[in-house]
Amino acid sequence: MTDKLKSAEMMPGNTGLPLIGNTVSAFTKFEQFYWERNQQHGNIFRVSMPGLFNNIACLVGPEANRLVFKDEADKLSSRLGNKFLSPILTPDMVLMQDGQQHRISRKLILPVFLPQAIASYFDIIQAVVSETIDNWGRQGTIDLSAELHKLTLKMVVKIFLGSEKTSEIEQVSEWFTILVDSLNGVIKWDNPLTMHGRGQAARRKIFDYVRQIIQERGARGDLEQSTDVLSLLLNTIDEDGNRFTETQVINQAIGFLFAGHDTTSSLMSWLLFELGNSHEWQQRLRAEQQQVMGNNPITISQLRQLPDLTNTIKEGERMYPPGFLICRMAMADIEYGGYLIPAGWFVCIFPQLTQRMPEIYQNPDTFDPDRFAPPREEDKKQPYSLIGFGGGVHSCIGVELAQMEMKIILSTLLQKYDWSVTPTTAEIAPVRRPFSMQKQLRAKFVPINPLQGGVPEGWGG
Ligand code: HEM
Repeated sequence: MTDKLKSAEMMPGNTGLPLIGNTVSAFTKFEQFYWERNQQHGNIFRVSMPGLFNNIACLVGPEANRLVFKDEADKLSSRLGNKFLSPILTPDMVLMQDGQQHRISRKLILPVFLPQAIASYFDIIQAVVSETIDNWGRQGTIDLSAELHKLTLKMVVKIFLGSEKTSEIEQVSEWFTILVDSLNGVIKWDNPLTMHGRGQAARRKIFDYVRQIIQERGARGDLEQSTDVLSLLLNTIDEDGNRFTETQVINQAIGFLFAGHDTTSSLMSWLLFELGNSHEWQQRLRAEQQQVMGNNPITISQLRQLPDLTNTIKEGERMYPPGFLICRMAMADIEYGGYLIPAGWFVCIFPQLTQRMPEIYQNPDTFDPDRFAPPREEDKKQPYSLIGFGGGVHSCIGVELAQMEMKIILSTLLQKYDWSVTPTTAEIAPVRRPFSMQKQLRAKFVPINPLQGGVPEGWGG
C-alpha cells in the first residue's frame, strides 16, 4: 500500500444525519437512493447506516466488479457481507460461507446443478408452466409479479423438495412468503408479535416439513438409489470423505428455494413487461420459434437453438438484474481508486448501475436484445460488464436452471398468447426502482390461434 492513499472516510457522499446516517432514505428509496448517489458522486461513494451497515464503500463499474469477484476476493467475506440474510440463510448455506468451507460445500451441491440433473428437471418445469399459464387468457388482467412469484416458487418446491401434492406446495409457498417478507421486520426479536418472529416460526415449519420428507423416504428405503435433489445432497461424498449432515441438507435446500424463486420471477416480470411493450420483439421471437419447433412445445435440445430468445433474456438480465447490490465485508484493508478501504467496511457493487453505463452499453435505458448479437456484443468489450448472475467463486450455481426455466416460460407464453402490459414503457421508463415497481405491472394475455402458425390475428404474420 502506498502512503498516498486517501482514507475511505474521504470518499464522496453525504453520510446523512447523526445516529441514523442514511438509513431512512436508503430503506425508503432503496435502488433509487443508490442511483441518485451514483449520479451525484460518480462511481465511488460512501454510505452509512449505523448499527446495520456502519460504513459502506459503494463501487460501480467493471473494474469494481473485478475487484470483488477476482482481485481482492480472498479478502472479502460473503458470510459477513450477507449477514442481513441470516434470518433465512443459516451458516450452512453456500452463500454464507467463505474459503475452504465454501469450497467443500460448493463441491457437495454441484451434482444438483450438473447438466444431467438440470435435464431431469425439464419435464417438471414444463408441466408446471403449462398448467399454470393455461388459464391466463381467461383471467382478464394479471398481476405479473404475483403470478410469476407463485409459478417460480411452485417450480422450486417441486424440483428441490420433490413435493407433489398441491396442498403441500401451497402450504410451503405460504410459509416461504412469510419468511422472505420477514426480512423487512425492523425488530429482530423471535416472538409471534414481530414480523421477524412470524418469519422464524415459518422457517421452523419448512425445516420440519423437509425433515419429515427425508425421514419418510429414509424409512421406505428410497433415498439411496434415487437421483432427486434431496438424495443427491444426502448421498454425495467428496474425495476427503466430507458429506452433509441431515440438518445441512435441509438448510441448503431452504437456501435453494430462497436463491431460486424471487430472482427468476422478478427477471421474468420485467421481461414480460418489455416484450408486452414491444410487439415487434414478440413477433420476432415467435418467428424464430416457428422455425425451430413449429407449434410443438420446446424440447431440451432446442433450448440452445434460439439466439434471439437467449439475447432477449440477457437484455432482461442487463436492464433488470434481480440482485440490485452484491455485498461483502472487507476482512483486511484493500485499495481501490486511490482509497484505502479498511477491514470491517462493507464493500458493495451494483449490477444494475454497471449495466446502465453508457460507456459500455449504447442507449442503456433502451430494450435492445440485438446489442448482444455479433458484431456488437457490447458485453464482451470489457470483462465483468454483465454480472446479473454474479461472478467469481460465489457466482450463481443455478444459472443454467434459471435460464432453462425462463426459456420454457417465455416460449410457452409466446406460442399461446400475445400480451400487452400496463403501465407502458413510455409511462415508467427508465425504471430506477425495479424492486418496488414490479408490483405495479399488469398484463393482458390474448390467446393466439395455432392455425395461424403461432402469429396472432391482426399482427400481419
Ligand atoms: C434469474 C435468476 C437468478 C439470478 C439473477 C441469480 C443471481 C445470483 C447472484 C447475483 C448470485 C451471487 C450472489 C453474491 O455473490 O453475493 C447468486 C448466487 C447463487 N444462486 Fe442465483 N440467481 C438466479 C437463480 C438461481 C436459481 C434458480 C438457483 C437455484 C437454486 C440459484 C442458486 C444460487 C446459489 C446457491 C447461489 C450461491 C452460490 C455460492 O455462494 O457459491 N440461483 N445468484
